Amino acid sequence: MKKVGITGTGISIPKNILTNKDLEKMVDTSDEWITTRSGIKERHIIEKGQYTSILATEASRKALNSAKLKPEDLDLLIVATITPDMRFPSTACFVQREIKANKAICFDISAACAGFIYALVCAEQFIKTGFVKNALIIGAETLTTITDWQDRGTCVLFGDGAGACVLKEVDSGGVLSSYLGGDGSLSDLLYMPGGGSKFPASKETVEKRMHFIKMEGNEVFKLAVRLMVDSANKALEKCNLKCSDIDWLIPHQANIRILKAVAKRLELSEDKIFFNIAKYGNMSAASTAVALCEAVESGKFKKDDIVVLDAFGGGLVWGATVIKW
Ligand code: ACO
Repeated sequence: MKKVGITGTGISIPKNILTNKDLEKMVDTSDEWITTRSGIKERHIIEKGQYTSILATEASRKALNSAKLKPEDLDLLIVATITPDMRFPSTACFVQREIKANKAICFDISAACAGFIYALVCAEQFIKTGFVKNALIIGAETLTTITDWQDRGTCVLFGDGAGACVLKEVDSGGVLSSYLGGDGSLSDLLYMPGGGSKFPASKETVEKRMHFIKMEGNEVFKLAVRLMVDSANKALEKCNLKCSDIDWLIPHQANIRILKAVAKRLELSEDKIFFNIAKYGNMSAASTAVALCEAVESGKFKKDDIVVLDAFGGGLVWGATVIKW
C-alpha cells in the first residue's frame, strides 16, 4: 500500500475580530467567565457578504502554492463543513470553480468538528488504492452564520476560518493509522434543527430560532474528553505506538478545559499540545485543520515526529489520525 503524507498547507482567517469584551455588550456574559470556562479570548468572524467557499478558496490556493502543485493536477477535492455555501451544489464544487481544479472529483463531508479528520481518512483511502494521485482536503466553516447571538451558552464559543492540506504519496513517514467512530443516538446533544428536509425553512422555523446551533454543553463536554482519549488510544494502538510516543497532539479546539483533561488522561505534557483556541474559538471542521496548518507553518514539527490529530463533534462523531512527519 502507498504511504500518504501532507505536502502543503494553507490557512484563511477573516480579518474581523470579535472579543469577549464585545460579547459583554451583546449578551449577559463576561470576559472572565468565557476565559475561565472555555479558554477563548477572541474569535474571527466573516464580514457581511463573505461565505464559506471564500475562506476555503483562499486556504486552498495557499496549500497548493506551498505544495508546488498546479490546480489542474488535483484529482480530488473534499471540503469538510457544516456551514456550506448552499444545500447544493457542494462547497467543494465552488472551490473547484474558483481555483480551476478542473479534473478534481468534488464533494463535501458533514462530520461537524471531526470533519477534517474524516476528510483526511477518506482522501487517504483514495490515494492508497491508486484511485487518485493528488488530493486537497479543506476544513472550512462560517459558524457565526448559524450562531444564535441571543444564546450566551453557545454564542461565546464559535468562530470562522479555514485550513487546507494537500495530500499525496510520500516515500517516508505519512499517515500511520486512523480511527473513526460515530453514535447517532447522541445526535440531540448538538444539532441545528431548521433548514433541512425535516424542518424546511419557514416563518415558523425562523421565529422558533431553529436555524441556529443547539447544544447541551455539559453533556458534550464529558463525552468529548472520553471520546478524544479513546480515539487517540485506538489510533495509536493500530500502529503499535503508545501515548508516550506522541511528539505533538493537534486536537479539535472546543474548550481549553477539555484539552487539559485529555492531556491528563493521556499522561501527555501540555507543552506537546498545540493550542490556538484563545484567538479563534471553536471553528468546527476548520479547527483541527487550522491548528495543523499553523503548527506546520510555525516549524513546530521535526522530521519523524509523531503527530496525532484528534477530534469529536456533533453526530456525535469522533476520530484520530497518527502521522509520522
Ligand atoms: N456567560 C456567563 N454565564 C454563562 C454563560 C456565559 N456565556 N453560559 C452559560 N452560563 C451560565 C449558565 O447559565 C450556568 O448558570 P447557572 O449555574 O446559574 O445555571 C453556569 O454558567 C454554568 O453553565 P454550564 O453550562 O454548566 O457551564 P460549563 O462549565 O459546562 O461551560 C461550556 C459551558 C463552555 C459550553 C462547556 O460545557 C463546553 O465547552 N462544552 C463543550 C462544547 C463543545 O465542545 N462543543 C463541541 C462542538 S461544537 C460543534 O460541533 C459545532
